[in-house]
Amino acid sequence: MFSRSASRTFTQSRQFSSSAARQTKVAVLGAGGGIGQPLSLLLKQNKLVTSLNLYDIRGAPGVAADVSHIDSPSKVTGYPADQLDQALEGVKVVVIPAGVPRKPGMTRDDLFNTNASIVRDLAAAVARVSPEAHLLIISNPVNSTVPIVSETLKKAGVYNPQRVFGVTTLDVVRAARFLSEVTGAHPDECKVTVVGGHSGSTIVPLLSQIAHGKGVKGETYDKLVHRIQFGGDEVVKAKDGAGSATLSMAYAGAKFADALLRGLSGEKGVVTPTFVKSDLFAQEGIEYFSSNVELGVNGVENIHPLGPLSAEEEKLLAACLPDLKKNIEKGEAFAAQS
Ligand code: NAI
Repeated sequence: MFSRSASRTFTQSRQFSSSAARQTKVAVLGAGGGIGQPLSLLLKQNKLVTSLNLYDIRGAPGVAADVSHIDSPSKVTGYPADQLDQALEGVKVVVIPAGVPRKPGMTRDDLFNTNASIVRDLAAAVARVSPEAHLLIISNPVNSTVPIVSETLKKAGVYNPQRVFGVTTLDVVRAARFLSEVTGAHPDECKVTVVGGHSGSTIVPLLSQIAHGKGVKGETYDKLVHRIQFGGDEVVKAKDGAGSATLSMAYAGAKFADALLRGLSGEKGVVTPTFVKSDLFAQEGIEYFSSNVELGVNGVENIHPLGPLSAEEEKLLAACLPDLKKNIEKGEAFAAQS
């Protein structure tokens, strides 16, 4: 479950951050896209960010010029396609929403062929130019792109598992919102820990661990779990070919980036789910797993155990593990032959 400090609102965290001594250069790779643009807008408002470097193969200088007029202190610079290395110089945090999104009828895995090489190449550039940067991977399929990034960094000899994160925050955001719709409770009272991975059956919400979630039973429970697992499809369908979640994802990405920046700046007790290198299911041959993680000055400080699970959650977990394993192995195999 979230700690008190992890459940701060953006406003509260900005108040905290304005007094923090350490500030940070952040890069967004894919800043011209549906997620990249609103994510850049939200990061411009985060006072822990000193400089915002916006890179894309299309349109980043325009987005940067626009966002740079916002009256917060950070400096915004846009970088065109041929200036990836310049965009990465001296950055502490790199957020990657580059790649293609889903169209109706597609699974996240269908994006693999295009996005795998995009994230590999961007990770290789990070390894070369800013090897100590923290990498926040939004590009799907996250279950595979995180292993690809990790293997790419390993090949370059700069891998540190404390600094690579798959952003699963949208699942957490959706779970809170959807549970609040079912119960009538405020979303702040519905903070569900979501574990596993980031696609369909690999998304495992631990509803039994919070008061408002515990009481949801039967068909209502089944529908709620399905909605948390497949909520992304609602957006893909409604956008009717124009892409997948961008605004809620930008919100979720900015929320996770804010949590990491607070941890990096020394705030204690920042705990949130994220998909990282993890020992929790290493015995089952699963190297990466999303669970509550404490974020601190080194990135990942402490991976929390899952805690008590209901019988239903045990079943969800049993269904998650084999799919997640396949997704991870697919990413690793791609990186190995690259
Ligand atoms: P989009 O197509 O609107 O934007 C992607 C951007 O990436 C474009 O501006 C494109 O020019 C850029 N790009 C492509 N190759 C690049 C490269 N090599 N270097 C830099 N930029 C490059 O797509 P959208 O909607 O922003 O989605 C981006 C990714 O995020 C997709 O893979 C999507 O599946 C994923 N996503 C992840 C979620 C999550 O919860 N982790 C939720 C929703 C989407």
